[in-house]
Amino acid sequence: DAYDAGEHESFMHKEILEQPAAAERVMRGRLNDRFATGHLGGLNLDARELRAIRRVKVLGCGSAYYVGEMGATLIEELARIPASAEAASEFRYRNPIIEPDTLYVAVSQSGETIDTLLAVQEIRRKGGRVIGLVNVVGSAIAREVDGGIYLHAGPEVAVASTKALTNMFLGFAMLALQLGRVRDLSIADGRRLIAGLNALPGKIEQVLATEERLEAIAERLAAAESLFFVGRVRGFPVAREGAQKFKEISYRHAEAYQTSELKHGPLALISPAVPTVAIVPDDELVERNVAALHEIAARGGPLVVVTHDDVELQGLDAERVVVPRTERELDPILLTIPLQLLAYHAAKHLGHDIDKPRNLAKSVTVE
Ligand code: G6P
Repeated sequence: DAYDAGEHESFMHKEILEQPAAAERVMRGRLNDRFATGHLGGLNLDARELRAIRRVKVLGCGSAYYVGEMGATLIEELARIPASAEAASEFRYRNPIIEPDTLYVAVSQSGETIDTLLAVQEIRRKGGRVIGLVNVVGSAIAREVDGGIYLHAGPEVAVASTKALTNMFLGFAMLALQLGRVRDLSIADGRRLIAGLNALPGKIEQVLATEERLEAIAERLAAAESLFFVGRVRGFPVAREGAQKFKEISYRHAEAYQTSELKHGPLALISPAVPTVAIVPDDELVERNVAALHEIAARGGPLVVVTHDDVELQGLDAERVVVPRTERELDPILLTIPLQLLAYHAAKHLGHDIDKPRNLAKSVTVE
C-alpha cells in the first residue's frame, strides 16, 4: 500500500502532522481574492440560488457532527443565515421538516457512514437540496448529494479523525464566505477572512511545534479518571471535539460542557482529581470565561487553559497552552489542534492502540 505510517509510530500521528499540507490542498484554487469570496464550483449553485437559501442545516456523526457545529457558527457569523447542526443519527427519526429554501449539508470523512447517508436520502426523498463535505471521492454520500466540496485531505486511516476534520472546518469557512458575499459581507471582511485562511497552514505548523510541551501535559491528564472540557460559543464545539478525541483513544471519561453552565450542575464534580481543559480564546467572552475558571480553581480543580498570548488570567493557577491569533471566526481550528495532541499523547502514555481504539470503527456502515 502506498500509504503507510512511514517513520511515524501511528497513522494518527502522521495524520496530525500532515495537517498544514492538507489544509493548503483543500483551499487551493477555491479562494477568489479579487471578489473576496469562496470559489466552490462543485456546489452546483449559482449566486441567485445561493441568495435564496434561508436556513442551513448541517448533519454528521461523531467528530463530523462537532465540526458541523463549528461550521454552523461560521455560517451564522459570516452570512447571517440561521444555521444549526444535528447528529445525523437522530435527525431522520423525528420526522424532520424539510424545507425547499434550506440548504442541507452532509459532513463525512468516509462518505459511507450509514446514519449520514440515510439522512441524505430522507432529505432528497422529500425534495430537499443537500450538499456534501466529503473526503473520499466517489463514496456513497458523494454520489447521493446534489453537489459538494471534496476535502482533499488524502487517505485517513486512524479512527480518530484529524486532518479530514481540519479540512471540514476550512470547507465550511469557504462556504460561509461564499454565502456571505452574496449577502452583506463586505469586500473588506471577505479579504480579511481570505488573508486569515491563507495564513492558517503556517499557524497550524506553529501549534504542532509545541508538541513536546503538550506531551508533558497529556501525561498528567492521563492520570485522571475523569475530565471536563469547557468552552463557550465558538469554543464549545471545540470542547466537544476535544472531549470526544480524548475519550475515544484514552478511554478516560471526558465530558464537554459550556463554561457558562458549570455553575448549574457540573461544578459539584470539580475536585483535585478532576482536571478541566478550558478553551479560552481572546474573544468577547474572555473575561467571563476567566471568572468561571476561578470558580474551578477555588475548588482545587487542576486547569489547562488553551488560549491566546497576553490573555489576562487574573492570577489563575493554570497550565497555559497558547495558540497563534487568527481572525476570530477562524479561532476554533487552531484551538482544536492542541487537543488532538493531548488526546494522542494521553493514549500513547497509557499504552493504547491509538489507530484502532477498542469498540470503534473508522466508518460505521450499519445502523
Ligand atoms: C465513526 C468514528 C468517528 C467519526 C464518525 C463519522 O463513529 O469513530 O471518529 O467521526 O464515524 O465518520 P465519517 O466518516 O462520517 O466522518
